[in-house]
Amino acid sequence: MTNNFELDFSEDLCFCNYEKEAFKALDFILNKNGLGSKFLGWVTHPEVYDREEYSRMKKLSEKVKKSEVLVVIGVGGSFLGSKAVIKALKPYFKQDGLDIVFAGNNLSGDYLSELVEYIKDKDFFINVISKSGSTFETAVAFRVLKGVCEEKYGKEATNRIIVTTDAERGLLKEFSDRVGYETFCVPDDIGGRFSVLTAVGLFPIMCAEIDTDVILLGANDGLEEYTKKSLDNISLKYAIIRNAMFKDKKKEIEYLVAHEFKLAYLQEWWKQLFAESEGKKGKGLYVESAIFTRDLHSFGQMIQDGNKITFETIIEVENLKNDIIIPLIEEDFDKLNYLAKKSLNDINKVAVTATRKAHTDGDVPTVRIKVPKLDAYNIGKLIYFFEMSCAISAYMLDVNPFDQPGVDNYKKNMYQLLEKM
Ligand code: PA5
Repeated sequence: MTNNFELDFSEDLCFCNYEKEAFKALDFILNKNGLGSKFLGWVTHPEVYDREEYSRMKKLSEKVKKSEVLVVIGVGGSFLGSKAVIKALKPYFKQDGLDIVFAGNNLSGDYLSELVEYIKDKDFFINVISKSGSTFETAVAFRVLKGVCEEKYGKEATNRIIVTTDAERGLLKEFSDRVGYETFCVPDDIGGRFSVLTAVGLFPIMCAEIDTDVILLGANDGLEEYTKKSLDNISLKYAIIRNAMFKDKKKEIEYLVAHEFKLAYLQEWWKQLFAESEGKKGKGLYVESAIFTRDLHSFGQMIQDGNKITFETIIEVENLKNDIIIPLIEEDFDKLNYLAKKSLNDINKVAVTATRKAHTDGDVPTVRIKVPKLDAYNIGKLIYFFEMSCAISAYMLDVNPFDQPGVDNYKKNMYQLLEKM
């Protein structure tokens, strides 16, 4: 087994036709001379991150791990990455140890009040994460949960609240300096959706007892492989496929398909990454996700037979940690004995091949990214793979990958309406 990812595409695409455009996009990233170039810190971050801060994070995580709950408050890029990694690498069913829960990513009073009930008699810490330090959803949840923390712990609450924000600016930074919270930094040159490999994602991930050293190792190998100016670079190839699908094949929707529920939040992170980075100037693929085989029994029909505006990117994990063997039973009431002694994961792989063939035959092109294992190393590398592809792909579309003017408009309207409430 190698540590390399593999990428294959169902169509006969001549990658060299897009070579010039893709290399130019990669040059923008490496030479920092494209749109939004002051937000390219994520490119080298896995190599050059602040070691002093990293050890502070590790030390504090040891304390947090001994408690019962960590509440991570944040929205968008400030929570999706850590949730994606934790869900991908931790067991499906809760075992002992710290429970990591998320808040500040919605405005549901029902959710927040249930969360308050859940934590109030438990031993808990809060990690509030906001680069700007003033995002509405995050600020509202923090105001409420900070109160719960202070009521329970009194002065000790100061040591229970950990702030991840800008190094110098913002309301949260000003307040935490005043109060004396432990603070980690969102680097100035890294935007929210590209920040999972900074303190934003790494601190909650550490608290979940996932080896962040190994995640960074995977990301570093990604940095070496996916910055190569070559058509063997599969991150660049994926960006080319997406552009070819959008511009030439007139596909409008890309489905990220996984056959493991553990990847459902990685899909959410991926959707945010690509949608917020590319959806500008009337351009960009609409990004969706599906978990197979579950969704084959719902909108699988639409993908197969409906409007031909979609293509699929399948993440296939080659080796999973756990498996189960189909039992042989004497009465064979369900007529499944022909599968007896076969592994369920192998049967799932047959489903991947069967679905892929059906969809390709039905004019739904499919890309497959094969990942050797679902572990810290491969997740780190996969995150880097998608970040790099996303930036290349956005530059190939001639949009700024690192701003989000549409989201800013929603925020402006929201504040105006709230003032009138
Ligand atoms: O990718 C982005 O920049 C956004 O999704 C932000 O992460 C999100 O809006 C939260 O912003 P902040 O971290 O400033 O609270």
